[in-house]
Amino acid sequence: MVKGFARFLACDLLRRNTSVRSCFYHSKGKMSEKTVQARRLEGVDENIWVEFVSLTAAYKAVNLGQGFPNFPPPDFVREAFMEAVGREDTSVHQYTRAFGHPRLVSILARFFGKLLGREVDPQTNVLVTVGAYQALFCCFQALVDDGDEVIIIEPYFDCYEPMVKMAGGTPVFIPLRLKAAAGGKLISSRDWQLDPTELEAKFTSRTKAIVLNSPNNPLGKVFSKQEMEVIAALCAKHDVLCFSDEVYEWLVYDGNRHTRIASLPGMWDRTVTIGSAGKTFSATGWKVGWAIGPDRLLKHLRTVHQNSVYHCPTAAQEAVARAFEIEFDRFGQPGSYFVQLPRELQKKRDLLIQHLLAAGMKPIVPEGTYFLMADLSAFKADLPDPPPDSDEPYDSRFVKWMIQNKGLAAIPVSAFYSSLQKKNFSHLIRFCFAKEEATLEAAGDILQKWSQPKPSP
Ligand SMILES: Cc1ncc(COP(=O)(O)O)c(C=O)c1O
Repeated sequence: MVKGFARFLACDLLRRNTSVRSCFYHSKGKMSEKTVQARRLEGVDENIWVEFVSLTAAYKAVNLGQGFPNFPPPDFVREAFMEAVGREDTSVHQYTRAFGHPRLVSILARFFGKLLGREVDPQTNVLVTVGAYQALFCCFQALVDDGDEVIIIEPYFDCYEPMVKMAGGTPVFIPLRLKAAAGGKLISSRDWQLDPTELEAKFTSRTKAIVLNSPNNPLGKVFSKQEMEVIAALCAKHDVLCFSDEVYEWLVYDGNRHTRIASLPGMWDRTVTIGSAGKTFSATGWKVGWAIGPDRLLKHLRTVHQNSVYHCPTAAQEAVARAFEIEFDRFGQPGSYFVQLPRELQKKRDLLIQHLLAAGMKPIVPEGTYFLMADLSAFKADLPDPPPDSDEPYDSRFVKWMIQNKGLAAIPVSAFYSSLQKKNFSHLIRFCFAKEEATLEAAGDILQKWSQPKPSP
């Protein structure tokens, strides 16, 4: 009886996992193909992170692949979490408000209200999510319908495409194109630009939204105010929404400035701005994120949220609230983490650039984020030939080979492109430089041993 109940419970909990389901039910009769089908998920089941993360772990490679810092979050942020979980007061250990812990939505509204130069209501204009990832998912599920088109700028954070498709929409891609860089200088992410005419041609009567990611992962481009004004004007002209993924908003270098598209005239009403405490406070595992926008859009995100995760862990929200309160009081001052972190990361960026240049790879200098792309076109490696029937892009084969033979992990940039463009961008790989100096030096040692012979004079 007890065994039967346990089996029932396991089946119930796992009923969405078709392979497990099949093993539980197998003895009762054969299942048809129809039963195990998940038609909406066809074509979106692959995920590069699963493959590259496990390969990196298997070979214990120096990990400049996945985008997370391997240094700790600052003391005041960790202390805020420890203080929260250490409390006897039960409220911080129990469910909180579904759409965001009151203390967190209150400070997010104050903080971003100041940055956006407008009144932000904590109850109706802020939704706390399980990382920025869930905020993105809520946007697409809530606001994209069957047949809607969503414009995605390439290269893009890879989950946008499957999320649009899972909502029944159609992604429409437009690549950033490399314009000639100033002679002799390293290429900068700034040299990659949208062609305004090409962009305008992507807007049709079916366009529902455009996804803007600035600073951009994986390129590190920080869209200028002028570039954003072009996008904003097209959104207004074609009555289109903007999902603005700003998770790297504080990671901007060389005096560049991050512009919030929602602060441009007319854009608040049609923009959902997405942020991440993981990226903001170097605590990606906490998975606290948010969406900020007008109630008429956010009310639909709330419906997706309440019918999927319902709410995020209370203690993590409490800690993030405390961290933002501290940052609010010292905003713009030298002691602010939002001033210190980019300063530290810029040094790390420059160190990795030196190592890559010494080895003969050509880095593209990022204006923001904690990533940089490097060009392998002139870099020679003894890769075995691919099997004749393989259509795996060169960068993907290169990174796997590099992990296995050199003990260094990166991510192939073709993974951030649509299937039509993958082959055109398979000479680039992405490195994450949000790492301890020792990790970057270990990568530097590998690159130095591997460096290309210098051309003879
Ligand atoms: C551009 C971009 N958006 C969203 C996310 C997800 O953020 P979070 O970890 O808060 O879910 C990431 C994570 O790498 C990202 O690079």
